[in-house]
Amino acid sequence: MCGIVGYIGFEDAAPFLLEGLSKLEYRGYDSAGIAVYDGTKIDVAKSVGRLSILEKKLDKAMPIGKMGIGHTRWATHGRPSDGNSHPHTDCSGKFVVVHNGIIENYLHIKERLLENGHVFSSETDTEVVAHLLEEYYEGDFEATVKKVLAEIEGSYALVFMCEYEPDKIICSKQDNPLVIGLGEGENFIASDIPAIINKTRKTYILSDGEMAIVTKDSVWVMNRQGVPISKKVFEVHWDAEAAEKGGYEHFMIKEIYEQPKAIRETMSSRLAKDENSIIFDELKWTADEVAAIKKIAIVACGTAYHAGVVGKYYIEQLAKIPVEVDIASEFRYRGPLIDEQTLTIVISQSGETSDTLAALKEAKRLGSRTLAVTNVVGSSIAREADQVIYTYAGPEIAVASTKAYTTQLVSMLMVSLYLGTLKNTISEKRAHEIIHGLRELPAQAHRLLEDVEPIKTFAQNYGFSEDVFFIGRSLDYAVALEGSLKLKEISYIHAEAYAAGELKHGTLALIIEGVPVIALATQYDVYEKTLSNIKEVKARDAVVIGLAMEEDKSIAKYVDHVIFIPRTDKYLAPILAVIPLQLLAYYAAVTRGCDVDKPRNLAKSVTVE
Ligand code: AGP
Repeated sequence: MCGIVGYIGFEDAAPFLLEGLSKLEYRGYDSAGIAVYDGTKIDVAKSVGRLSILEKKLDKAMPIGKMGIGHTRWATHGRPSDGNSHPHTDCSGKFVVVHNGIIENYLHIKERLLENGHVFSSETDTEVVAHLLEEYYEGDFEATVKKVLAEIEGSYALVFMCEYEPDKIICSKQDNPLVIGLGEGENFIASDIPAIINKTRKTYILSDGEMAIVTKDSVWVMNRQGVPISKKVFEVHWDAEAAEKGGYEHFMIKEIYEQPKAIRETMSSRLAKDENSIIFDELKWTADEVAAIKKIAIVACGTAYHAGVVGKYYIEQLAKIPVEVDIASEFRYRGPLIDEQTLTIVISQSGETSDTLAALKEAKRLGSRTLAVTNVVGSSIAREADQVIYTYAGPEIAVASTKAYTTQLVSMLMVSLYLGTLKNTISEKRAHEIIHGLRELPAQAHRLLEDVEPIKTFAQNYGFSEDVFFIGRSLDYAVALEGSLKLKEISYIHAEAYAAGELKHGTLALIIEGVPVIALATQYDVYEKTLSNIKEVKARDAVVIGLAMEEDKSIAKYVDHVIFIPRTDKYLAPILAVIPLQLLAYYAAVTRGCDVDKPRNLAKSVTVE
C-alpha cells in the first residue's frame, strides 16, 4: 500500500504534493519522492526514509512548477532505497510514473525491455511502466498510456506525466484506490481522500478499469479503451482524521476489513495461474535441500507466535517435518537444539521485534538456515534472514495485529504445501483441494465481514464481563490463543485460551454461572471431543458462544449462541475463524470505550527486549 498524489493548476505543485504525502504516510513510509514539471523539464527528487528526510533535502531546492506527482512507498518489490523510491522515469527522464500495487508480469516485460537496450535504475516492478511509455510513445501520450495499460497485469493505481505533453496528468486504477479532487483552475489526484480534503471536497472516485486525463481546467474519465464515462461528483463530508481511516472509526476495523484484499495480494503471485501449485520465486528450494531439513523451528512473539502455532500443524501434517514452536523471548534461553539440519522460520509483522531478531541471530549462530515471514520489506529481520517471504498486507497501523495474522497463516500454509510437494508427502489431489480453498478465501472473508451485527450484539452483551475463556482443540486451540490475545489486549478483559481437553485439569474450577466461553468447533476430526468439552462448561452454567462451519446443524443444540464461518477445508478454517474473533474483540473494546488503536501499555513494534 503506497501513497500517491498529483497536482495540476495555477499554484506551485510541490507544496501540495508534500502536504498531501504527509497525510498519506499511514499508507507507507519507506521512502518518498516528487516529480515537478518546471516549464522545460521534469525535476525528480526522492529519498529513502520518512517524508521528513525528503522535505529536508528540498528545503533549499524546492522544485518550481505547476504540475507534479508524488509518492510515499510501502515496499513490495525491491528493498527501501533511494533508487527504488518513486517516482520512476524512463531512460530519457521524459516519462515519469508513480504506482501503488503490484505489476505481476513485470519480470517478463523487463527482460524484453533490457534486450531492447533500456537501462534500469531500480529493482522495482514499477519502473517497467516508465520504460514502456518511452518504448511506445509516438506523439500521443494518451494513446501510449492505453497501450501500456493493455500490456501490464496486476493491481495498480498509476499516475503518469510526460515532458512532451506538460498540460496533462494521466491516471488509471485497478484494485488500488485513486481519487480526483475537483478544484477551480486546478485539479488534484490522490490515493486517498485525506490528501485532498483541505483543497476540495468535490471528488471523482475512480473505479477499476477507468482512466482519467486531468488538466488544470478539465477531468476526462474514460475506460482504458477510451470510451468516455460520466462520473458523479462524490462530495466528501468526512473530517481529515476520519478520512485517514477511510471513513472507518479506527485503523483496527479498517485493517480487519482489508483482509480479503491482503489475503488475495499475499497469494496472487504464488498461486500458479494455469495449474494448482505454489510458486515461491523467493525460495527456489530443491527436493534435495528440503529432504536435508530434519527439523523446523518456528520463533515469534504475540500474534506472530500464534501464527507459528498454526504453522506447526500445517508443516507437520502436510510436509511431515517435525516442528518446534517457541516464543522468541524464551527460545534463546532454553538451549535450543538447532543445527545445520534445522530450518528456523521467524515470523514478524514489523520485522523489528527485538526478541525475534535476537532469536534469529542465535539460530544463525547455531548454524541453522533461516527464513523470515514478514510484512515490512527491508526490515531488520528481513535483512538478517537468509531468505524472506513477504506478506502483502500493507501497513498495519493498529497495535492489535489482524491482517498481518491472516496473511501469515496463508503464507505458512503455502510454505507447507510447497514443502510437502517437494517432499512428496502430499498427494496432488489433496494439494489441489487446499489450493482451491485458498482461492476461495478472499470472497469468503468478504462474506464474513458483510454482516457483523450478531457479533456486535455479543460484544455489547458480554463486553463488561470480567473473564472470558476461549476453548478449542487442534487448530481450533491455536486460533483460540489468538482470539484471547485480541480480546485481552484491546478491551482489557481477562481472556484466556485453553486446549478444550485441558479444562478438567484445573481451569474448570473457574467456570461458573454466566462466564462467557467461546468454543471453536471447526475441526471435524476432534468435533465430538470438543462437544463433550462444551457440555462440561454448559453443565457449570457458562454462556457458550460456539464458532462452527455453516453446515454444522447440530452445534446450536449445545450452545447459547453460534457464529458460523463459510464451509472450507480444515486447514483454511483458522484463517476464517479468527475474523469473528477479531470483530468480537474490536466491538468489546468499543463498548468499553477503550483506545482501540493504541491500547494502554502497548506499542505496535516492540523494539526492546
Ligand atoms: C498483536 O496484536 C500484538 N500487537 C503483538 O502481540 C505483536 O503480535 C507482537 O509484538 C509481535 O509483533 P511482530 O509481528 O511485529 O514481530
